[in-house]
Formats: sequence, structure tokens, C-alpha cells
Amino acid sequence: MRERLEQLEEDALRKLSAAADKDIVTELKVRYLGRKGELTSITRELSKLPEDERRSLGKLTNDIKKRLEEKITTLLNDFSVKEQEDSLKSGILDITLPGRRPPLGRIHPVTRVMGEVEEIFLGLGFEVAEGPEVELDYYNFEALNIPKDHPARDMQDTFYIDNEILLRTHTSPVQIRYMKTCRPPLRVIAPGKVYRRDSDLSHTPMFHQVEGFMVDEGITFGDLKGLLIVFLQSLFYKDIGIRFRPSFFPLTEPSAEVDIRCLICEGKGCRVCKDSGWLEILGAGMIHPEVFNSVDYDSTKYSGFAFGVGIERITMLKFGIDDIRLFFENDLRFLEQF
Ligand code: DAH
Repeated sequence: MRERLEQLEEDALRKLSAAADKDIVTELKVRYLGRKGELTSITRELSKLPEDERRSLGKLTNDIKKRLEEKITTLLNDFSVKEQEDSLKSGILDITLPGRRPPLGRIHPVTRVMGEVEEIFLGLGFEVAEGPEVELDYYNFEALNIPKDHPARDMQDTFYIDNEILLRTHTSPVQIRYMKTCRPPLRVIAPGKVYRRDSDLSHTPMFHQVEGFMVDEGITFGDLKGLLIVFLQSLFYKDIGIRFRPSFFPLTEPSAEVDIRCLICEGKGCRVCKDSGWLEILGAGMIHPEVFNSVDYDSTKYSGFAFGVGIERITMLKFGIDDIRLFFENDLRFLEQF
């Protein structure tokens, strides 16, 4: 048995040394070390031998196996190195070619403008809060003074999970969530996604808003006006046209809508501003006493303002984009421009 093993090692090593390429080495590996290989079948026979013989021959078998494996690994390695050198020499692999640059990702324009808005308000001492996109009817409507039968719900039809759970139609519910857990004075913005049953040139079923609100003793409409002017002038430029229009929102009283001069047609009238020359970009007002009641604030002591800005709108104006749907088509030719 010992002789057979020694003979086998000698044979194997001789054949391996003579191997001309990788394939032959692999073949020999199977032949000697494979599951049905020669060395493996000897190992099986060992089990029939008496104990002490089995032990010493077992050790020899293992040593041979180890030596053969080492030899095979070295050979395979040498052959791959040689292959690489050959292909370099033959010019198949040209290592002097310049590398291919992986395409660089970019920040989506909506995300970018959202960041700019946050920066401006952080600079004005506001903090950033968030709320859930899947929201309770209570926070989205009821607590904001929009009861079940209120006609204002028509403009904010949305996707319902069930009767009481929906995709939020605005970021205003964050006002309620925040005020329920904190006491005035407070200055907060709440950016995020909102959803509505709307789809045309200037509406998508999902879009982004930033809500803002400030509550303290003695806050006036003048504070709201001043803040929004500073905000819009920082976001666009100093002499952008801004107008406040009286409006109605159940959550504020008095309420206003703020328009800026259409930057796409410069006020001449186009399809984006529906020929009016103005674009509505935010709703605002003084927080309604009923809203303060929902969060147990004393409305005789505190006052505050709130506003909600549509981010897609201002992004379109900033970059001269005339179709809101472009933001969500994921066309790289569009996205690469920002
Ligand atoms: N939530 C309103 C909307 O999406 C916008 C709005 C109006 C927000 C007045 C406010 C506000 O905070 O005071 O139509």
C-alpha cells in the first residue's frame, strides 16, 4: 500500500510538471484528487486496514494530497499569469486606454429647491419637522377646521386607505401634530410629499409642499407678510413681483393667497399661468381659533400664522420648466440639466 501511494505521488507530480496548459492540470486534478480519483479510492481502502497501519498510511495519504494540491494551485496560478502576459503582448488587452467614467448622479431639481427653502427658513430661526404621508382624516381635515361635510374637501380629494385613513393632501396636518406636543413660542417648517386626485399640466397626483407656521403672543399678519416677502426674495431675486390676494382657507382667518409674477412669460400670459401673468405659489393666513382649540392652545393669549408652499411650482419658475410632469418621468435628458 505504501509503495502504491509513493508511486502514485511520483506519477502525479511527473505528469503535472509536464502539463502544457491549464486544462491538462485541471484534468489531472480530477483524475487524482476528484471524488472518484485515484487517491480518493485508496483512502477508502485504508478503512479496511488494521488500526496502526491505517494511522500511518492515513497520514502519508494526507501529506501526499496536500503536496499535490499545492503543486496544482501553483501551476494554475502560473498559467493565468502567463495568459495575461500573452494577451498584453498580443494587444488584446490595451492597458493604455483611458478608463470609462461612471455616470455621476445628480440631485433632483425638486429636492434641490426643497433644500434651498429649508436653508432660508433655518437662517430665519425656524426648525424642521416631519409628519406621516399616510395620515388620519382627523389631522388632515377635522382638526384643521375642515369637517366631513365641508365643501373645501372637494378641492382636496385624495386616495383613501379606509374611511378614516388617507394619503395627506397637504402638509398642514403637521401643524396639528407639532402643536399637540409643543407649546409656543414656535417657528416650524414641515416639508414633504402630498397627494391629490389631480392630473394635468400643472398638477400631479403626488407633489411636494413646505408648510410653515409661527405661534407666539402678539404675532400679526404684518409678521406673515414680512416673512413671506423675505422668503420669496431670497429664493428668487430682490424685485420679483409678489402679490397678496384675499382668499379663504378653513384653517386660517383671515386668509390670503400669494402669487408671484410668472417668470416663464414675464407676466405676458402663457399656458402655465393660464394667461393671467401670475402664478399662485402659496396659501397663508392667521391660524384659526378653531385650530388652536384642537390643540388646546388659548387663542385669546396666542396668535400665529401659517402658510403652505408648492415646491414643484417654485421649481418650475426658478428653472423655466413649463410642464410639471417632467419632474416625474425620470428622463435623464431632462434631469441631467440641473
Ligand atoms: N394647506 C393648503 C393647501 O394645500 C395651503 C395652506 C393654506 C396652508 C393656508 C396653510 C395656510 O398653512 O395657512 O391648499
